Amino acid sequence: AAVATLIPAEEAAQPAAPALPREAAVLFGSQTGNSQRLAGKLAAQLKEQGFEVTLSAMNAFKTNGLKKTPYLFIVASTHGEGDPPDNALTFYEFLFSKRAPKLDGMKFSVLALGDTSYEFFCKTGQDFDNRLAELGAERLAPRIDCDVDFDGPASQWLASVIGAVTASPAASATVAGAASVAPASSAATTTESEYSRSNPFQAEVLATINLNGRGSDRETRHLEISLEGSGLTYEPGDCVGIYPQNDPALVDAIIAEMKWSGSENVVPTKEGAEGQLRNALLAQFEVTVLTRPLLEKAAAFSENAKLAELILPDNKATLRAYTSGRDLLDLLQDFGPWKLSAADLVSILRKMPPRLYSIASSGNAHPEEVHVTIRKVEYEAHGRKRGGVCSVQVSERLEEGGRLPIFIQNNPNFKLPANPDTPVIMIGPGTGVAPFRAFMEEREELGASGKSWLFYGDRHFVTDFLYQTDWQRMLKDGVLTKLDVAFSRDTEEKVYVQHRILEQAAELYKWLQEGAHVYVCGDEKHMAHDVHAALLSVVEKQGGLNAEAAAAYLADLQVSGRYQRDVY
Ligand code: 2AM
Repeated sequence: AAVATLIPAEEAAQPAAPALPREAAVLFGSQTGNSQRLAGKLAAQLKEQGFEVTLSAMNAFKTNGLKKTPYLFIVASTHGEGDPPDNALTFYEFLFSKRAPKLDGMKFSVLALGDTSYEFFCKTGQDFDNRLAELGAERLAPRIDCDVDFDGPASQWLASVIGAVTASPAASATVAGAASVAPASSAATTTESEYSRSNPFQAEVLATINLNGRGSDRETRHLEISLEGSGLTYEPGDCVGIYPQNDPALVDAIIAEMKWSGSENVVPTKEGAEGQLRNALLAQFEVTVLTRPLLEKAAAFSENAKLAELILPDNKATLRAYTSGRDLLDLLQDFGPWKLSAADLVSILRKMPPRLYSIASSGNAHPEEVHVTIRKVEYEAHGRKRGGVCSVQVSERLEEGGRLPIFIQNNPNFKLPANPDTPVIMIGPGTGVAPFRAFMEEREELGASGKSWLFYGDRHFVTDFLYQTDWQRMLKDGVLTKLDVAFSRDTEEKVYVQHRILEQAAELYKWLQEGAHVYVCGDEKHMAHDVHAALLSVVEKQGGLNAEAAAAYLADLQVSGRYQRDVY
């Protein structure tokens, strides 16, 4: 009752302030869940400031309400070649279409997530930022573009947004009123683990098994990792983040190239950088990727004019060509002489980003364990053998009983239907099959009765059929209803999962009409793109729709959460 009388009094005290209504939309475009988590943080803080907040995926936001939204906050990640995440697509298209309304009177701010090793770094966030300004909205706080180590810049953005909304006299008046209400509404307690992305759990590896048979040209590790004592839990569809260690041979080559010893004390220039050089290079910093910011910083320590030239704005394409497939050792070899100390080097490197892997197990089927499926990435470039940091470590330098620093990354955008009777169609060639093992184990545990259909593909039936015995058991016990496989290198003509999809068009469409959810996991650039085209064709032919209507059909599925993708 005390609160109820307080608020009107506060409102009455500031009738003249030309304030915007304290209503905010916080929209996220998120593929792996980072943007969503940060958007959630901002929403909570805005609520504490007395805001009425709509927190939503962009796709789920009713665009006819946009014009009337006084405050709009966007957290968006960028994908592949500068693309918006799946759950941002329709909103993105709307905003850039002729239907987009004038937005003068709106205040906004954008947080962009990205990776400086990609050409179109933070493009989606930048597009939103520019477009909103173009439509007449006013920037409340400047956009911040985050690299893979986004914690610091993201907190900075949150603080600047909250600072900006509290700075206006109208806002601070409401804060007083809201502050007394806040504790009741934000008192929800969760039993979260103390371990997180910023404080990983040193997990024991219980088993490491090569899933590929003898003679395969691939190596795919099935890891069983203990969560005992961590308090970490997960749901099928979530990911495990692993902080890998760099290849000691590469680290030692870098140290030798600079004629260092490795025991140099590395000044604690940023968090976690304390200690000896070799250890820091092994575990704390990225040495396998060259980014423009790194080259720019390195140029300050190089006396080689070629490096200064490479980073000129006119030489973008040359820089791209140079950085592709090269690492820190190449940089140090190619652009000496250097005036660079061990501490200088560490001060210009990116922190080691964690690698995310789709979870391959159900926690109900394997209490206190999490399983992942990791394929070894190896290739030759510029005369040297190179590989994926984590996948090579796991394949070559990880024994049972060893430990890995891990955390759980929730992925709200890749979840089994809430109703266990809902049919599911799962498309996951190669390691993309991992989350479907989790899905099916979960349904097996729960005794779920919904139909399920898996499309799987890889190179060879005999050596590359990941989790074959699991699928056979699940087919037998009925949890898996249908299995279609495409082994691409067993026959003269290549067959891929999308060919199987097209062969089964009538049946697949029937499942869709029955309400099936469709999941796609795996390679984004080729597979997910081709599978999407196959699904369009299924809907077009079987539903008697034209191309536009078929696209709308799939877009609808996407918006309603019935078409979910975990692609990389
Ligand atoms: P390939 O290597 O013979 O080309 C898992 O990696 C499986 O996905 C392999 O069988 C691989 O075939 C296949 N694959 C490669 N490109 C694909 C694409 N565009 N669509 C679907 N599957 C693809």
